[in-house]
Amino acid sequence: MSSPRTSDVLVIGGGIIGLVTAWRAAQRGFATAVADPAPGGGAAQVAAGMLAAVTELHHGEQTLLGLNLASARRYPDFAAELTELTGHDLGYRRCGTLAVALDSDDRAHLRELHALQARSGLESEWLSGRECRRLEPLLAPGVRGGLRVDGDHQIDPRRLTAALLAACERAGVVFHRVRAERLSVAGGRAAGVVTRDGATLAAGQVVLAGGSLSGRLAGVPRDVLPPVRPVKGQVLRLTVTPRYAPFLSRTVRAVVRGSQVYLVPRENGELVVGATSEELGWDTTVTAGGVYELLRDAHELVPGITELPLTETRAGLRPGTPDNAPLLGPTQLPGLLLATGHYRNGVLLTPVTGDAMAHVLATGELPDEARPFTPRRFGAAALSEQPV
Ligand code: GLY
Repeated sequence: MSSPRTSDVLVIGGGIIGLVTAWRAAQRGFATAVADPAPGGGAAQVAAGMLAAVTELHHGEQTLLGLNLASARRYPDFAAELTELTGHDLGYRRCGTLAVALDSDDRAHLRELHALQARSGLESEWLSGRECRRLEPLLAPGVRGGLRVDGDHQIDPRRLTAALLAACERAGVVFHRVRAERLSVAGGRAAGVVTRDGATLAAGQVVLAGGSLSGRLAGVPRDVLPPVRPVKGQVLRLTVTPRYAPFLSRTVRAVVRGSQVYLVPRENGELVVGATSEELGWDTTVTAGGVYELLRDAHELVPGITELPLTETRAGLRPGTPDNAPLLGPTQLPGLLLATGHYRNGVLLTPVTGDAMAHVLATGELPDEARPFTPRRFGAAALSEQPV
């Protein structure tokens, strides 16, 4: 019988990936619980929320592209369902993206991206500098050209998180506001967790969705621990005051001297500028250097940005994996599943992750589009197969 400390599905981690997994599991009829000292936190509180399957395409990531596109296609229905259920406006804005080049190196890089997009069957249009400025008049005169991608949109990840929390509550998900310290294993399968306050939470299936912390849960057999690492991103929030509105009508991004910079304008006047990419362990310090580089690069793209109030600086940790793709589904330890490692695409991949995890929890099998993302692709052998 289910009690507050016993569930069919226990999700470790209440960030957007944990929440969407819990929500979809509860909708399938599973008695579902989430263990997290502060549900609704995590990297989504920092992320800009670009839904950038096309502009963030990279060589060698064709398989990930398939999952990214599958999730992008689900976004309209996903957002409508969440809004209808919870009454929350998610800030889902189908505004498109403009990726621009400031010098000949940047332009060569963008041309290369354009060719890769075309080979991948994706829609993007090459524009001259003048055409870019016609779309976005505040762009710097030095912009040499750009790629217009009308299919890459944005959502406000903080609003998305709040809506997912509300949806979980409506679906009867139980929240244990405490840290899961150790995985319990009994009879060769995951059986729940022991929490920081010493309580045992028992579950038929445990989903580890702890973002960059997913590799640190005690009690997980070494060869099952997800290979995730934290990749720091510093992000700024500015406000477009009425005097400067409209500032930008779509997401504008570029690679400046090898670093990514993007400006994401919200309908409510918030302008998000991101992001650094730093391999510094669990450090989330906002540094003068990080803020300087982001503002310097953003200023090269849109000089007027320095007139705007800077309202927030923050750093978050992306859960990076060896192939930049997420880890979804069963591990070699029966009863333990992963939903982590979403790296740069956590917000984009939220809808497809929720669907895939609910499917695998119910059937034991990942749906076709999620199969390549099995944690088993890293070849971790089952603990029982290891020499002792
Ligand atoms: N996808 C944007 C970032 O990770 O900075």
